[in-house]
Amino acid sequence: MNPWKRWFGNKEPLDSTVPELDADNIPNHVAVIMDGNGRWAQKRGLPRVAGHHAGMKNVKKITMAANEIGVKILTLYAFSTENWKRPRDEVDFLMKLPLEFFPKEIDELIRNNVQIRMTGWEEGLPDATLKVIKDAIARTKGNTGLILNFALNYGSRKEMIAGMKAMLGDIEQGKISIEEISEQSFSQYLLTSELPDPDLMIRTSGEQRISNFMLWQLAYSELCFTESYWPEFTEQHFFDAVKEYQSRARRYGGL
Ligand code: FPP
Repeated sequence: MNPWKRWFGNKEPLDSTVPELDADNIPNHVAVIMDGNGRWAQKRGLPRVAGHHAGMKNVKKITMAANEIGVKILTLYAFSTENWKRPRDEVDFLMKLPLEFFPKEIDELIRNNVQIRMTGWEEGLPDATLKVIKDAIARTKGNTGLILNFALNYGSRKEMIAGMKAMLGDIEQGKISIEEISEQSFSQYLLTSELPDPDLMIRTSGEQRISNFMLWQLAYSELCFTESYWPEFTEQHFFDAVKEYQSRARRYGGL
């Protein structure tokens, strides 16, 4: 039997067959810009928020697919610092998604040893949203499996400016010297200080931009752009992206 074709959890089979992937070259950290919810809904004559709801439902499926093949960290861009500019109703809807997602999915995530994390600013998030996320983080803190990291209220430039200010503060206080500024030491001032950089970044919906997402961290990531809108991005698409990653030669500027 194809060694990748296994069942996960104790119930649900994957919708698709896991392709032959190189087990020694699975991306450790995959980051996804989940784009195209609005267009997915529009195509069906539905309100934009229906697309976000369908997008939320896809989160667990892709999490399980990533877990299945041995990805260690899955970062999902769920809300950017720029998304506050959207109409109030849409922002409110997006902020309520965690209130539905976590109560519904947390038990299965726990059964699968998934650890929840968040990268982004807590300030500005509604109390109820923050509470449900913090509860999920606390309940899964001891889990040792896949890290499901939500980039929520996150923006990369803001992150770098905040990191720069914090580093300068430490320099002023004599905690570190200017000579000690390095890529390594600066990384420690970013919100992702406890995570390795993504190996693979996937953006759905055909847009080919980074949109202020992990600009520092994606320096050497392989980028994969797919036409599918996020709600219709299947496990098969995810495996195909990993296959594509495995076909690339990462050189990090060398030969
Ligand atoms: C971009 O599509 C998508 C978002 C701004 C929201 C993504 C959020 C989710 C998929 C749900 C996350 C789930 C949890 C539990 C936090 P868009 O609306 O910009 O699409 P468009 O470009 O077609 O308009």
